[in-house]
Amino acid sequence: MTLLIGIPLETATGERRVATVPEVVEKLIKLGFAVAVQSDAGAGANFGDGDYRAAGAEVVATAAELWARSDIVFKVRPPSSEEVALMREGSTLIGFVWPGQNPELMQQLAAKQATVLAIDSLPRTLSRAQKMDALTSMAGISGYRAVIEAAHAFGRFLNGQVTAAGKVPPARVFIAGAGVAGLAAIGTAASLGAIVRANDTRAEVADQVKSLGGEFVKVDYDEEGSGGGGYAKVMSEGFQQAQRAMYAQQAKDADIIITTALIPGKPAPKLITAEMVQSMKPGSVIVDMAAEQGGNCELTVPGEAVVRHGVTIVGYTDLASRLARQSSTLYGNNLLRVVEELCKAKDGTINVDFDDDAIRGLTVIEEGNITWPPPPIRQPAVAPKPQPAAAAAAAAPKKGHGSSEPMSAKSLAIVFGIGALAFLMVGLYAPATFLSHFTVFALACFIGYMVIWNVTPSLHTPLMSVTNAISSIIAIGALVQVAPPLGGSAVGDRPSGLILGLAVGALALTAVNMFGGFAVTRRMLAMFRK
Ligand code: NAI
Repeated sequence: MTLLIGIPLETATGERRVATVPEVVEKLIKLGFAVAVQSDAGAGANFGDGDYRAAGAEVVATAAELWARSDIVFKVRPPSSEEVALMREGSTLIGFVWPGQNPELMQQLAAKQATVLAIDSLPRTLSRAQKMDALTSMAGISGYRAVIEAAHAFGRFLNGQVTAAGKVPPARVFIAGAGVAGLAAIGTAASLGAIVRANDTRAEVADQVKSLGGEFVKVDYDEEGSGGGGYAKVMSEGFQQAQRAMYAQQAKDADIIITTALIPGKPAPKLITAEMVQSMKPGSVIVDMAAEQGGNCELTVPGEAVVRHGVTIVGYTDLASRLARQSSTLYGNNLLRVVEELCKAKDGTINVDFDDDAIRGLTVIEEGNITWPPPPIRQPAVAPKPQPAAAAAAAAPKKGHGSSEPMSAKSLAIVFGIGALAFLMVGLYAPATFLSHFTVFALACFIGYMVIWNVTPSLHTPLMSVTNAISSIIAIGALVQVAPPLGGSAVGDRPSGLILGLAVGALALTAVNMFGGFAVTRRMLAMFRK
């Protein structure tokens, strides 16, 4: 039986996002589902009812009808009690739920015999969970938007400029907390030309900060800041004191401060005191991305932009929603990936498989039974840290792959000895013609090795496509066969029809390889260019 996926209009005040977009609707239909969208659900993100209809969705007039008919409901924000009341018994809900913070909502949903997949409960450290990780996609957007909000409230350029009307210094931006949102903010501010500094209690992020064009500022106190799973822990009083001293220095120097520091399950650490705000230059800006969790700045008013001591403090809690079209598209894709995992048979039905660690972590209620929190994952597969594309390109190791252990001096001597002996034998006994070909071959291997090993790993894919294109050198062989011999010749010297046919075929095929290879390389390199 084909299940109906329903997308209601988000009811939380100011929420402009929608849980799916027309482009994703088409993919859901290909998976065998039917899709219904409440009228105007996409209006805040600039998707009209007509766009959804064109993608194959049915547009439903009221929330009541949508909730009553849907087998699966996609939501962005946790549902309100009114929405839960509209929900059909035994249906499935996928969206942000925050089960730890919303015990009452969990009870209401359980009473509806619902199955609930909370996107916020995804085990983020599983590699295969990354495509479903809406926390990361939303944090990336929020980090970007935080810089845009700061630039909007700031009275100067972010980049330095020398103009006929005077010289403008670049803005100094300090980022507190270099997690997903902080890294996105660093990349954005650096790309706008600001001087960016950042700090985090987890020293391991220093390289990522650098790779995005920022400078990592260390707290002068030795303490490990990692609390496991990539998250931070509450630091000792000694560390906090040293950190406050460093932040006080940075506040005096910075034009813009963006704070993103969070510790799971704890109120946001207070990093920017009222005195630090007072010490900032008039016209400076603070964007407190932790406003919803109490704020990293003492003077933040959640949801508002206020001016204190001449400093604008932006405490918006809807940064992702302020880029609604972008965030809805990424969020829609995250939910699509969840549904793909649930519907491997592509038959429009779902199977909530508890043997799958990602699905187990996501499922906080199963047919009315609360299954949150999930048991610990048996063998957590540590994934590479999520990095913006620019970081991935820049942060690659400079040389080689470097993962294997270096050879010991003894084994190196043995390998070289055997190699030298082999070369001596070739030199002594191989025919002269072989020797000249062999020399070219050995040189080609050496140069190829040196070239490829010096290319950063993130550029290996375009490198492969360009070598693929170059390998079409086979065309030369085919051309030699097709072309008439130089200086004219007797008919008997011409290649036979079969050879000619094969050569023309090879030429056609290799032309596809050659032009295709260069075209693909061009497109791939374009992705790395700013
Ligand atoms: P978050 O939103 O909980 O925290 C933001 C940042 O604030 C973190 O980098 C944290 O270290 C920092 N912070 C906390 N207290 C601080 C303090 N007192 N001073 C300065 N900084 C402080 O975390 P987010 O951004 O959601 O994820 C953090 C990390 O988790 C990522 O950088 C990554 O390493 C890891 N992660 C890994 C994933 C994966 O393996 N697929 C997916 C998502 C996150």
